[in-house]
Amino acid sequence: MSHLAGPENNHPGKDKVTTTGLKTRKLAGEKITALTAFDCLGASILEEAGVDLILVGDSLANTSLGYETTLPVSMEEMLSAVRAVKRGSSRAMLVADMPFGSYQASIEDALANAVAFLKAGAEAVKIERGASRAPLAAELDANGIPVMGHIGLTPQSVHVMGGYKVQGKEPEDARRLLDDALALEEAGVFSLVLEGMPAALAARITGALEIPTIGIGAGSDCDGQILVFSDLLGLSVGKKPKFVRQYAQLRSIALEAIESYCRDVREGYFPSASETYGNIPEKHTEKPA
Ligand code: KIV
Repeated sequence: MSHLAGPENNHPGKDKVTTTGLKTRKLAGEKITALTAFDCLGASILEEAGVDLILVGDSLANTSLGYETTLPVSMEEMLSAVRAVKRGSSRAMLVADMPFGSYQASIEDALANAVAFLKAGAEAVKIERGASRAPLAAELDANGIPVMGHIGLTPQSVHVMGGYKVQGKEPEDARRLLDDALALEEAGVFSLVLEGMPAALAARITGALEIPTIGIGAGSDCDGQILVFSDLLGLSVGKKPKFVRQYAQLRSIALEAIESYCRDVREGYFPSASETYGNIPEKHTEKPA
């Protein structure tokens, strides 16, 4: 079978999304849609909706696994999520977040962990922080592993930042973030997440780069946008960050459904005769309308 791909225009809902296709999208001025997913069910919904890029984010830690921050999530937990998401997706580009501790110790360590993600089905990995990551990004790229950068508010550095704070507000910080972006592009990253920064800075970085930027809390001028699955669907609890738009209130819908189920079980209305095999009709009470 030939490995030569077809045209790489990567129009919504059509061809497989690739690193080069995403660059073409930027050139054409077509916005890129991205969301996180952590399991096959979630991935299959994103896939059906035509989302371009699925990130198995390390936000798995604090949105689904119950950890306080993204720091504790392990390689095993992330690999398991990547395998599940892979089973539910095909057209979207699948990016795996390298968890804290999986790429800090040495380039050799990082390479081995990134290889594990690609073997699990990811098509690229994401690493946080700026120019200091350029040598690692270049090494991964040289070994055939596409890398997405992530600058601005980088949650793995929560203790360095002194909390989850918008970055790049001061002119010298803004300049540093622009330099970070340029250094990462030079090192070969195929795309860059811009998180938690003033919209004007994100626009400036986006304009200075040939690679596409994907924003989260970085305004509307990025080449694409990403949100966390549970935030967009209104499944999360707690304070909603300013940049999150909830497109549904699934938590309250789920709560209502589960409470109804519990009530029906307790009152003997579930299962009904029609939901029972070899049923004894007289045993069932019809639920009043
Ligand atoms: O882990 C994550 O969810 C992220 C974001 C960019 C959404 O890194």
